[in-house]
Amino acid sequence: MLHDPNRIYIFDTTLRDGEQVPGSQLTTPEKIIIAEQLQSLGVDIIEAGFPISSPGDFQSVVELSKAIREPIICALTRANKGDIDSAVAALKHAARPRIHTGIGSSDMHIQYKFNSTREKILERAVEAVKYAKQFVEDIEFYAEDAGRADNVYLAQMIEAVIAAGATVVNIPDTNGYCLPETYGAKIRFLKENVKNIDQAVISVHCHNDLGLATANSIAGLQNGAGQIECTINGIGERAGNTSLEEVVMILNTHKGLGYHDKININTKKLYPLSGMVSRMMRMPVQANKAIVGRNAFAHSSGIHQDGVLKHRETYEIMNPEDVGIDQSEIILTARSGRHALKHHLERLGYSMERIDLDQTYQRFLTLADEKKEIKDDDLLQLMGEDIESS
Ligand code: KIV
Ligand code: ZN
Repeated sequence: MLHDPNRIYIFDTTLRDGEQVPGSQLTTPEKIIIAEQLQSLGVDIIEAGFPISSPGDFQSVVELSKAIREPIICALTRANKGDIDSAVAALKHAARPRIHTGIGSSDMHIQYKFNSTREKILERAVEAVKYAKQFVEDIEFYAEDAGRADNVYLAQMIEAVIAAGATVVNIPDTNGYCLPETYGAKIRFLKENVKNIDQAVISVHCHNDLGLATANSIAGLQNGAGQIECTINGIGERAGNTSLEEVVMILNTHKGLGYHDKININTKKLYPLSGMVSRMMRMPVQANKAIVGRNAFAHSSGIHQDGVLKHRETYEIMNPEDVGIDQSEIILTARSGRHALKHHLERLGYSMERIDLDQTYQRFLTLADEKKEIKDDDLLQLMGEDIESS
């Protein structure tokens, strides 16, 4: 893969790491529907699955490779020939195939998972990359649990796999352990100490066990990474992966970081795709989820509502339309003020000249204490309309 240093590549793993969530497995046709939407969203790489893991996953990678022609289609393997052979076969029809192979890099993994030594694991890593390279040009190597690995050993491993042919080197914080500062410093260390690092793209792959996946990914970018691995709605094992919509909107909102024109994402598709993934994977999106949650653009306290009605940007740092949401919402509750009530009454066609706002507001508060949230029907009733007959 010829990489462009002026691009930040968006690598979506909703269909692989995201799909590892218990109870959220997808059929092949469902995966194709999501992949088509990821393609039109503009992601650069779609990780389609882990072909050796099951016949169904193998078939999904085959079908996705046939159906999706623009993004790179990537298949995951462990560092062994059987896994790699299976991925090569599954990717046979891909226009732009990538193999994602790798092995544990922390002493915890080397000792307890593999009962091995640093030297032997490094050899296996190099062998896997060399083997995969015979079949596919674009090879991404993952150093699992790099977040807890010794940086000097990690640098040796990364240098060796690049020399063996890796085009992308993935530095996963597999257990979501790192702080943004330490993760950023790790990427910087590799950038400064791996001699051949410019021959590969550094990829960040962060998990959210401490709620830091997005912050860590951004820290990685700021320290030299060129690819972000993420999932729609941040779904994934345990507390999930870095959320695609969060990183994309951070880069677009903070233009001063200088990354917004290095990505190619049609942000208006974020909200519809979030809903589609949530429904198909039977994973509700939490109401306060950044960017795509039900309340992400809903204002309910009187002070905020008054501010937004005077000038949207007093309490909104993004335009809801930019992420595919028609408009922000002013929710009427017992915390709302007169300004919000007036706004909704006018929206429903009432002329404020004929209404005693103070009096209506007192009646509204009594009803809102009772009903928690006041909808249009409640307002019409409050104003004395018989909604049944209208
Ligand atoms: O979290 C992780 O380390 C992974 C690798 C398999 C890339 O998902
Ligand atoms: Zn992962």
